[in-house]
Amino acid sequence: MPEIFQLRCRECGKSFENSPRSFCEECFSPLEVAYDYDSLKKTVRRENLAGRDFNMWRYAEMLPLNKDFVAPNSVGGTPLVPARKLAAHWGIENLYLKNDAVCFPSLSFKDRVVSTALVAARRFGFTTVGCSSTGNLANAVAAQAAQRGFDACVFIPADLEPAKILNTAVYGARIVRINGNYDHVNRLCAQIADKFAWGLVNVNLRPYYSEGSKTHGFEIAEQLGWRLPDNVVVPMAGGSLIGKIAKAFHELVILGWVEPKPVKFFGAQATGCSPISDGVKRNLARFEPQKPNTIARSLAIGNPADGPFAIKLIRESGGWAEDISDPEIVEAIKLLAQTEGIFTETAGGVTAGVAQKLIQQERIRPEETTVVSITGNGLKTTDAIVSEFPVTEAIAPRLDAFEAYLESQFAVATAAK
Ligand SMILES: Cc1ncc(COP(=O)(O)O)c(C=O)c1O
Ligand SMILES: [Zn+2]
Repeated sequence: MPEIFQLRCRECGKSFENSPRSFCEECFSPLEVAYDYDSLKKTVRRENLAGRDFNMWRYAEMLPLNKDFVAPNSVGGTPLVPARKLAAHWGIENLYLKNDAVCFPSLSFKDRVVSTALVAARRFGFTTVGCSSTGNLANAVAAQAAQRGFDACVFIPADLEPAKILNTAVYGARIVRINGNYDHVNRLCAQIADKFAWGLVNVNLRPYYSEGSKTHGFEIAEQLGWRLPDNVVVPMAGGSLIGKIAKAFHELVILGWVEPKPVKFFGAQATGCSPISDGVKRNLARFEPQKPNTIARSLAIGNPADGPFAIKLIRESGGWAEDISDPEIVEAIKLLAQTEGIFTETAGGVTAGVAQKLIQQERIRPEETTVVSITGNGLKTTDAIVSEFPVTEAIAPRLDAFEAYLESQFAVATAAK
């Protein structure tokens, strides 16, 4: 390998020089970044990390970055929260929440993928970057394009949550709303990437983009004290993140940084868009595409690019996939907030609700170490839960008014019993 990493076809294994492409020209399968692990093993030491800041760039050698790479900003480095109250509620012992709801700069794990994609965009000489997005990716592209001096043009389904659109617009990105669902948007973006010299992070830069997700997995292992968990529960849209967490764990084993250990991968979807969980549950060789209809719009990808790989990984790891209804998503968002003080978006509700279901099904055992990936922030999808919390009437700034208020609340509570 002339460089320590290059592109390789995930099916036929053909290698390609680093370039803005995402499909093998021989067999049309997706490409991924492959590393020369023998060289990495000689040069990278776990001890080297000690003096580095706790963010995703501490794993720089295991990412597709240029030799002269300088960390552009702080991304990742999110908390792994021991979730004792939620664990007790669910009747299990060792539960952790990987909280990318507070990932910088745009409050979802998509900041990680955009970070590595924009390094590739600069390397290949793009001045305009963009994406097809269910919301969070557009936020992350817009924020980091502004930070790093790119023009940004993002493509979204027209019906996205207003907060997701605002969280893109504020950074000065051009937003193109498409009358259609994510799969229509994505198809258009493939044509745009061919015609315009733009770096579309999840289209022609996809192999470099998806590598950023590995840092979610590296951090989990490091925060567990350089150990792998028994189970991870991961939300799935395109099905990329779950595979990259597996790749991260695998690389840590290759480098000898963690002891090898079987990890079960569990995938989470909303029932209203569940092609991958459906494929796992029905033991299909290939998933059947769906037309999404769910409040979990960030996960609403009916024809997931990495779906077949996600199904294979879940099956081979001994894990499982599940999906939950929209009302169950809302209940899970409330449960996470009211036990652990974490306000997650609908995708996090999906993951938490599915974790609960898997525990009830006894697929996740109480004594095992389980990590649940919370990947986005609740302030971006308030419309999904706003009707749960009607605004109460205001009272006068007087003690008697407060006492009257308490009495009326008591009367309401008693009447409700
Ligand atoms: C908050 C959130 N979590 C999870 C995902 C799923 O990621 P992937 O497409 O890699 O499966 C997305 C994708 O948009 C997302 O926005
Ligand atoms: Zn191929």
